[in-house]
Order: sequence, then C-alpha cells, then structure tokens
Amino acid sequence: MTEVLAPRIAVLVVAAGSGTRLGAGAPKAFVGLDRHTILRHALRGVFAGPLAQVVVVAPADRVGEALTDAREAAGDREQLVSVVPGGATRQESVAAGLRRVLPGVEIVLVHDAARALTPPAVFDRVIDAVDRTGWGAVPVLPVIDTIKRVEGDRITGVVDRSQLGAAQTPQGFRRDVLVAAYATADGEFTDDAALVAEAGHPLAAVQGDPLAFKITTPADLERARALVADSPIPPVGGSGGIVMADGATVDGAGAEAAAPAAEPGPAAGRRPGSRPPRVGLGTDVHAFSDGGTLWLAGLEWPGEPALAGHSDGDAVAHAVVDALLSAAGLGDIGTHFGTDRPEFAGAHADAFLAETDRLVRAAGWAVGNVAVQVQAQRPRFAARRAEAEAALSRALGGAPVSVSATTTDGLGFTGRAEGVQAFAVALLVPA
Ligand code: CTP
Ligand code: MG
Repeated sequence: MTEVLAPRIAVLVVAAGSGTRLGAGAPKAFVGLDRHTILRHALRGVFAGPLAQVVVVAPADRVGEALTDAREAAGDREQLVSVVPGGATRQESVAAGLRRVLPGVEIVLVHDAARALTPPAVFDRVIDAVDRTGWGAVPVLPVIDTIKRVEGDRITGVVDRSQLGAAQTPQGFRRDVLVAAYATADGEFTDDAALVAEAGHPLAAVQGDPLAFKITTPADLERARALVADSPIPPVGGSGGIVMADGATVDGAGAEAAAPAAEPGPAAGRRPGSRPPRVGLGTDVHAFSDGGTLWLAGLEWPGEPALAGHSDGDAVAHAVVDALLSAAGLGDIGTHFGTDRPEFAGAHADAFLAETDRLVRAAGWAVGNVAVQVQAQRPRFAARRAEAEAALSRALGGAPVSVSATTTDGLGFTGRAEGVQAFAVALLVPA
C-alpha cells in the first residue's frame, strides 16, 4: 500500500567511509554480515523505528548499490528514501546528507551505518529526549575499564570513570540547531555532538546499548557476524506496514518483525536468512615476449616463451583472481594489485591467489570452486594439467580448481601463437 508520508524526523545514515581499519577490501558499509551488507542491517534498525525520512550517504561509486539496499529495507516507505554521495570526512558526509532533508522535518538523527546492530529502542530514546529537552541527545554507555592518564610509557594519573560515557549513534538534534552548527563549524569534530556542543548547545545523555557497537576492526566484524547468524533478516516479501513511534503498527505488522512470506522466484527453497552463493567471471590475455621463462597456471614452463605483463604474465591466475573478486563484488585485479602494491610486481600466482583468498574471506566468503580454461597454441597442458590444478588449488587454501585447455584451430591471436587467453568462473559460498 502506498500512502503520503510527511515525517517530522529524518535519519541520516552515514555509510561513505572506506573502512581502512577493517581492511575488508571494500567500503565498510558494503561488507557482508550474512547475505546482507552492514548497511542493510543498519537500515533494518532504522526502518523498525518511528516513521522517518531516511537519507543514506554512500561512497560516490556505491550510490546504486546503497539504493538497492535502502529500497529493500524500506518496504512501504520507499518514497522516503534517498541516497547521496558522501565526502572525504564523516563531517562532510553528514553535511551532504543534511542538504537533502525534507522541508517539514523537525528532528534529525545522524547514525553510523557501521553501528549495524543498533536496536530500534535506542532511536526511540534519542527522539524522546530531543522532544523533551528541545536540543540534542546522545546515547552513551558507561565506561567499564579503569581509565589511566598515560604519557609515553608512564601512568601519570587516573581519570574518574564515573564522569565518563562512551558516545554512540544515533545522535539526534533539533533540525535548526544541527543545520546552524554545521553552517558555523570550524574544523573537524569526531562526532556531531561535539560539533553541536562547540556551537554552545546543551545535550542530553540517554542510555546507549552494547549492540550499538561500531564495527571498526576485523574482530568487531566477527562479533557482528556471530550475532546476526542467530538473528538474520527475514527475506523480502514480509507483510510490510509502518511502525509508529509508540510501537503500535498500522497496515500490518512491522516489515522486519513479521513472519516472512516465502521469498519469490528460484530462491524460494533457500533457508531463510542464508546467503545465496555468488558466481564471478574473469578473463585475461597476455602476449608472448622475447626472453624469460613462461609462468602459466602457477607453474614454470622451462623452454617455453615467456608472457609479457606487469607481474609474471600468468593469464590463467589473473583470470582466476578476477573471477573471485567479481563473485565477491570486490572490483577487479586492478583495484587490489595496482602499481601502489609494488610487492606484487614480479609475483607469481601463489601470491596473487593467496591475497585474493584473504580478501574474499574478509568479505565473508569461502571459495566453492573455480574452473578456468586457457586458449593457447602452446604450451601443451595435457601432461601437466593435474599439476596446475594442484598448484592453483593449494594457493586458494585447498579449494577445488579445474583447468582445461584448448587450441583455436589456428584462428585469432591464440591460433597464431601470439599470446594466450584464459577464462575463469568462480563460485563463492558464505563463509
Ligand atoms: N563515514 C562517512 N564518510 C566518511 C567517513 C566515514 O560517511 N568520509 C561514515 C562511515 O561509513 C561509518 C561512520 O562514518 O559508518 C563512522 O566512521 P568509521 O567507523 O571511522 O568508518 P570508516 O571511516 O569507514 O572506517 P576507517 O576510519 O577505519 O577508515
Ligand atoms: Mg573513519
């Protein structure tokens, strides 16, 4: 059902960071927790809260992907969702989102996509506090550890932890207060509360939630994955409906809370919440060059002419790398092994494949299998095919790799023995 929605609340979900500390090979918000991304999980919490305009701030090259996640999470509220490209800093990203807030909105919440498992109750507490106090509100958790003042390798004092709180998001503000504070902000602030406080406004503290932790490091990602494994997002196709601020629902039950209808199409038989496997495709071409030794399919081929290339020219290995990265949605070989990684300049297949395996694992996948075909006049693969399969498989942590080879009846550049071409497909399964 479509209805005209005029929310008085907007939630900016900032998801434009690169996730440097996570090091998962993709912008953090687009790394998978299960079959869904961090962003999609964050949006689940947002849409389970009160009716609100939702502005997702995404990296410029991920706007389309973010829109897909946002629309899926929004259900009936699709017309309240927009995605805008972010900036170089979190502060710039928030400013970009702020410019998209609808005219009638009175309260703006700013939320880190990286706090993907934040319970909807935290949103409610923040909104209540902004309504009550008229300024802004920040969810905080008590600091558990004893905090020391440290200078170099010396403890120089103790900080009274009863006066400390660890700030989380969503942080909520009266819209005019936040807009004015951003307009006059001078310098970079670590969060919106600091920026608004600097502008001279008082802020309320409300109770945070341990589940609102920020996914920052690989250990945080593991923890989040373990938590969602116990409570996955139901498949699309639930009853939809709007959850009101007081927790009551209209037009059916809450979209995520309701018992899910069967997922349509070929995925219908899938276990609810399980991620489907993903396939990827990769090809590569290298020309024969003068001098050197041939490296192909992870093997050295004495007596055969070498292939030209940035590394050892192993077109088979490079096609496999591209197929794996494509399956994981992590870009291609140029994204990860460009000239900024000189350690791969002369590297062989084992180094490329091991690093690719690490990247796809970090994104939550395991290699199901890989099939690669090489089209080449030479070398003759028949005698060494099993050896090549074993070498490639070893580099991928033991995943099955099949290698086949063919000639092209004398046609084309491979037929004229000017170079080789390889085609690979890869299947990834949820790790
Ligand atoms: N963020 C953003 N735009 C930026 C930087 C950060 O929208 N230019 C968002 C992130 O996507 C994240 C939130 O701000 O949801 C908190 O930032 P952080 O946890 O630091 O994420 P990243 O900056 O992506 O991670 P890192 O600092 O490790 O690179
Ligand atoms: Mg950051």
